[in-house]
Amino acid sequence: MTPGSVRVRVPAKINLHLGVGEVRPDGFHELVTVFHAVDLYDKLTVANGKGLRVRTVGIAGAPADGDNLAGRAALLLAAHAGIPCDVRIEIVKTIPIAGGMAGGSADAAAALLGCAQLWNLELTRAELAGFAAELGSDVPFALTGGTAVGTGRGELIAPVLGKHPLHWVLAISDGGLSTPAVFAELDRLRAAGDVPRVGGVTALLAALVSGDPGLLASHLGNDMQAAAVSLQPHLRRVLFAGTQEGALASIVSGSGPTVAMLCRSAEHAAEVGINIAGLGICKSVRVVSGPAPGARIISDNEKSA
Ligand code: C5P
Repeated sequence: MTPGSVRVRVPAKINLHLGVGEVRPDGFHELVTVFHAVDLYDKLTVANGKGLRVRTVGIAGAPADGDNLAGRAALLLAAHAGIPCDVRIEIVKTIPIAGGMAGGSADAAAALLGCAQLWNLELTRAELAGFAAELGSDVPFALTGGTAVGTGRGELIAPVLGKHPLHWVLAISDGGLSTPAVFAELDRLRAAGDVPRVGGVTALLAALVSGDPGLLASHLGNDMQAAAVSLQPHLRRVLFAGTQEGALASIVSGSGPTVAMLCRSAEHAAEVGINIAGLGICKSVRVVSGPAPGARIISDNEKSA
């Protein structure tokens, strides 16, 4: 590691379960969700600089500097420490932007961890989680990683013990979806009529502990899927293609539009991934597995996915 710089790797997430409750007085929806981190990573380099600079490479379209959630994370930490926010953040981006995989939140979590190390702030995990929750509902989970139940607006995290590997194909769409727009569409659909809701998480948690992907497949559920499909009707075709090509189940991840397809094994996922890519119905396809660890500092010579 070069003196004066810190490198951090942070995973994307999918939601195995996403139950959306009512709108709270603060405008957020009450959630019960099961987050699952997968081995698709953004990598951040956080280095001493003059003023705040945030630059993204790999995927175009991410906001720069203080408009980027990673920049906001650095500003929040600097204000807390009472120091100027003199930092350069370079994000090598792999997690899709506005894809329902919490890429921006992941970068914020990584920036918190990187800046805390760069500035020698001795923060506890609980303090970091508190800053993370201030930045966004999905940021605390990006610090923790693994598989975890999220409650509140998603920021209250309780890790789940099941450590069995799960194998997925991710079908990444061309256009993104704005999270508030998908929540608003769900409110609209619910106001207009009855929209089926996912049940509790007990059966899903038992399936996770069993490690049986076939059992898990029948318990995946996402209340936001109907709203995401309503905004991007082509997702219906992508969801159908997953099971048609042999996946155990297909589900929209978070607010979408990424579709996660659960497979039996790494080999099975590779095969389904090739078939999905061949259909030409999405921008790109990634074969991933989880649970992946949360944000962590890496050394320059560390080989990481
Ligand atoms: O927490 P975060 O900033 O990521 O949330 C982005 C937006 O998504 C919120 O402003 C809100 O519109 C919506 N949201 C919600 N309920 C949640 C989480 C997010 O309505 N539990």
